Amino acid sequence: MGKTFVSALSQTALITGASSGIGAAAAKVFAKNGYDLLLLGRDYARLQKNTQECLAINPQIKATTLIGDLNQLEEEDLLEELKKLSPLTVLVNNAGIYQQASVQDSTEKLWTDIFQTNLLASVKLTQYCWKLFLKNKKGSIVNVSSTLGIKPIPGTSAYSAIKAAMVNWTLALAQEGGAINIRANCVCPGIIDTPIQDFHSLDVKQKKEVETTISKMQLIKGLGQPEDVAESIYFLASEKSKFTTGSILHIDGGINLK
Ligand SMILES: NC(=O)c1ccc[n+]([C@@H]2O[C@H](COP(=O)([O-])OP(=O)(O)OC[C@H]3O[C@@H](n4cnc5c(N)ncnc54)[C@H](OP(=O)(O)O)[C@@H]3O)[C@@H](O)[C@H]2O)c1
Repeated sequence: MGKTFVSALSQTALITGASSGIGAAAAKVFAKNGYDLLLLGRDYARLQKNTQECLAINPQIKATTLIGDLNQLEEEDLLEELKKLSPLTVLVNNAGIYQQASVQDSTEKLWTDIFQTNLLASVKLTQYCWKLFLKNKKGSIVNVSSTLGIKPIPGTSAYSAIKAAMVNWTLALAQEGGAINIRANCVCPGIIDTPIQDFHSLDVKQKKEVETTISKMQLIKGLGQPEDVAESIYFLASEKSKFTTGSILHIDGGINLK
């Protein structure tokens, strides 16, 4: 028997950081479920590869890319790409960087870099998309924060503070969006095996040791995978959660409770 494909929904999902890790996995879930895709990232080769993989998963969808630094994104370029796709109804603010430094060593540059990429770029993009959601009379935003935005650990003051801001910003979006059919929700991943984590590129034996250590920090054993987060992002973005807004979903093996 041939593959069965979910029929096209005539809706588009815009996913930032879709060239790697959680964003790349999320793109595949949206593709499987029939969404057209606008995928953003900096790495041309990885973004193109993931786009082709999404199209292979579901040849009925359309998928296009915007390559470059999210901090430099121009609204006109976004609108130009979106002309090729179905109406935009989903935005996943996922792109992010992770830099550790003690309180004393956290320079102004480090704070600024994390603030711009992990929050301000998403704020601007959301403002662009908000207008389209209003036009399309529907919108769903999923922000990718972090467990550290709820419960910081030493060496993460800038990253944790800005991820906390993202949580609260999500609640503000939900407050303003409710009356105009725009939902906003947030996921807080724990420790997920993606390139943002130093341990990601370790060999199998070393990674097993890391997994054992991390498992002791969680209620559920094992390393979180990008697909675990991707499925939750899809749930919050899609009609499956149509009565849910302003929620914060922990995908962390229970690490925030330990
Ligand atoms: N993995 C975890 O343990 C974990 C835990 C909690 C939260 N998170 C959050 O999850 C999100 C996704 O991270 P990940 O784990 O999937 O890491 P990842 O594999 O390193 O992916 C990060 C993505 O963000 C993109 N990106 C970063 N800076 C960008 C910029 N200035 N302009 C455009 N794109 C940019 C990267 O693009 P290029 O690769 O193309 O440069 C990449 O696609 C981040 O917001 C991160 O803070 C991750």
